[in-house]
Amino acid sequence: MNHITIVESKNHVGEEVEIGAWVANKRSSGKIAFLQLRDGSGFFQGIVVKSEVEEEVFQLAKSLNQETSILLTGVIQEDSRSKFGYEIVVKAIKVIGESHDYPITPKEHGTEFLMDHRHLWLRSSKQHAIMHIRNELILATYNFFNEEGFIKIDPPILTANAAEDSTELFHTQYFEQEAFLSQSGQLYMEAAAMAFGKVFSFGPTFRAEKSKTRRHLIEFWMIEPEMAFMDHEQSLEVQEKYVAYIVQSVLDNCSDALDVLERDKEVLKKYTELPYPRISYDDAVKLLNENGFDDITWGDDFGSPHETFIATQYDKPVFILNYPKAIKPFYMKPHPDRDDVVLCADLIAPEGYGEVIGGSEREVDFEALTQRIKDFGLKEEDYAWYMDLRKYGSVPHSGFGLGLERAVTWICGTEHIRESIPFPRLLNRIYP
Ligand code: 4AD
Ligand code: MG
Repeated sequence: MNHITIVESKNHVGEEVEIGAWVANKRSSGKIAFLQLRDGSGFFQGIVVKSEVEEEVFQLAKSLNQETSILLTGVIQEDSRSKFGYEIVVKAIKVIGESHDYPITPKEHGTEFLMDHRHLWLRSSKQHAIMHIRNELILATYNFFNEEGFIKIDPPILTANAAEDSTELFHTQYFEQEAFLSQSGQLYMEAAAMAFGKVFSFGPTFRAEKSKTRRHLIEFWMIEPEMAFMDHEQSLEVQEKYVAYIVQSVLDNCSDALDVLERDKEVLKKYTELPYPRISYDDAVKLLNENGFDDITWGDDFGSPHETFIATQYDKPVFILNYPKAIKPFYMKPHPDRDDVVLCADLIAPEGYGEVIGGSEREVDFEALTQRIKDFGLKEEDYAWYMDLRKYGSVPHSGFGLGLERAVTWICGTEHIRESIPFPRLLNRIYP
C-alpha cells in the first residue's frame, strides 16, 4: 500500500493508501464520523462510516481527541464540497500518540495565550498559510537574485562594530573581548560586492529596539543585496523589480494560502505593476503639513502615522527619497547638489504596513567617509577594514535591505508582524 501525504491525494483517487496525520477537529453522529485531518502538507477530511468499518474502528474514531496523531488507511475520493477537492474514506486507524486537553481549542483565544502556546499555535491553518507564503518569499528571493546574476554571500552574525546604530546593539562576550550580534550585514556585503560584483545575503539580524509596535521584531531576517558600479537610481529599479517579483511568485504559487488568509488577489496584482511612485522627503513633509500633520517639520524622521498617510496617497508601494543626512547612518552618500540630504530611499508598503526596504548609495570617498565616521562619534580604528574598501579601487555602489517579516506581513495582509516568523522575539517575549 502507498504511504502518501495529504497534498498527494489528488494522484491517488480510488486507491487504498496510508497517511500519517493529526486530528485537527472532529464531529460525529450515530452513523458517521468526520475527522478534520492535517499532516503538514495540507488539511482534508476523513470519513468513517459506521456500517462500513469494524465497530471498534468507529468507536475509536469517535473517541479521538484533538491533536492525537494517527496512522490511517482508507480510499481517496473526490470531494466536490470542499475547496481542497479530496477526502479519505477511512478503513482502519492506529493511534500513534495520544493527546489530552489540547490547549488551543476551536474557540477564540486571546493573543497572549496564543503567543504563550506558539509552539502549538503553528499547527493552525492560518499559521500554515503564513509560513507557506514566507517560504515562497525566500524561494523567490533566491530565484530572483540568481536570475539577475547575483551570488549569495553570508556575512558574520558575531561582529566587533556597529553597522547601523550603536544604541540598538545586543552585547555578548567573545572570549576576552566584547562583541555584538549583527544588526545588518551591510558593511561586509560592501566588501563582498568589491569581490563579486553583485551579491545578496539572507540572514538573521538583531536589534535591541525598545519599540513595541505591530511592525517591530527584536530578531528578524533581512535580505541585503549590494551592487558594485551601480548608482542609487539603478538600485531603485532593482528594488521595485525584486518586490514585484516576490509578489508575483506568491500570486502564482500560494493561491490557496491567500484564500485561507482572505487576501484580495486583485489588490496584490496592482503591486506587480512597475514602476513604483517616488516622492522626495521634502515633498513628503510638505504633503503631511498640508494635511494637518503639524507634528512634523523638516529634519524629523517619520513615524508610522506619517508613513501610513503618505502610503495612502498611492495604490502601490512608494519610494520616499533623499532623507536628511542627520537622521540616516554614516555610510550614506550625500546628494551631489545638496549637502543636507543623502542618496537614499525607503520603500513604504501600501495599506499601512510601513517601511519594507531601506537602501542607499554608499559614500566611497576615503576622506569624506573618514569625516562622517568622526561626525557620528564612531571610532576610526573599528572601521579600518571597511576604509580599506575606499583605498583599493573604490567604485560607486549601492545596496538595500528588505525586512522579510515586514514583507510577509504586508503580502499576507495580517495585522501584526509577530505571526510572520515561527518564534517571534518581541520586547516582552523570548518564550517559547
Ligand atoms: O532600514 P534598515 O535599518 O537598513 C539597514 O539595515 C541597511 N543596512 C540595509 C542595507 O542597505 N543593506 O533595515 C532594513 C529593513 C527595513 O526597511 C525593515 O523592512 C526591516 O529591515 N527592519 C525590521 N523588521 C522588523 N523588525 C525590526 N525591528 C526592523 N528594523 C528594520
Ligand atoms: Mg530604515
